[in-house]
Amino acid sequence: MPESRARQKDSVRRLFASITPFYDFLNHTLSLGLDLYWRRQLVEAVAASPPGALLDLAAGTCDVSIALARRYPERRILAMDISLPMLRRGREKAAFHAGKASPFAPLAIIDADAGALPLPSGSVAALTLAFGLRNMPARGETLSEMHRALMPGGRLYVLEFGAAAGSAAWKRLYNLYLCSVMPRLAGLVSGQREAYVYLARSIRSFPRAEDLGEEIRRAGFSRVSWKAFTKGVVWLHSAEK
Ligand SMILES: C[S@@+](CC[C@H](N)C(=O)[O-])C[C@H]1O[C@@H](n2cnc3c(N)ncnc32)[C@H](O)[C@@H]1O
Repeated sequence: MPESRARQKDSVRRLFASITPFYDFLNHTLSLGLDLYWRRQLVEAVAASPPGALLDLAAGTCDVSIALARRYPERRILAMDISLPMLRRGREKAAFHAGKASPFAPLAIIDADAGALPLPSGSVAALTLAFGLRNMPARGETLSEMHRALMPGGRLYVLEFGAAAGSAAWKRLYNLYLCSVMPRLAGLVSGQREAYVYLARSIRSFPRAEDLGEEIRRAGFSRVSWKAFTKGVVWLHSAEK
């Protein structure tokens, strides 16, 4: 792995290690609970994928992986991430949910990098990636690696923050919240304001929906489409191998 990529991976690891204890709480409060709705839309979209194993990449504290395991108990779920503290928290939450009476799919939680997935080619039926792509270096290569892991006909689902769509006033309000209010509030709760300044910057520098769609196409995917939620605050891109 080139040195610059290894360095970026280390700094992403450090960032998420520093906010793990507050991650879920801040997600839910800073998004006013909307993150639950956005993830639910992602999980529902997976119903259109062919039968087979599901990979939740950049799984973090496993909210999406757990929702997949509850919604698709007949599937096998893999959750992968490079942050051990985030995965550890995810493992605790998964054990809690698996212990309940409702059916829960077998869930394997694995320390793995999206750039080099420890999977044979063509082995997963659908891959979900929620709020992770913007933290990944060499996006084109990483998308190609996801393409490799999917089976023919397999589906990719990328949920990510975007530039708000709509009126100028709405965009100004969103940017004010993202760049000023959110880091301040997050800093007060977690003491890690800089981490949230970085997260806001990474959202602002992420490609627009059309451009991301083109990147996904260039990685080999077809039937690429996207959909906005909450006036363009979040976008769901879907594609097929
Ligand atoms: C904002 S969190 C999203 C977590 C989860 N998907 C969610 O919906 O809350 C981003 C996650 O991406 C992970 N990540 C960043 N780069 C990665 C990489 N190269 N491979 C795997 N995971 C990565 C981070 O460790 C972090 O847990």
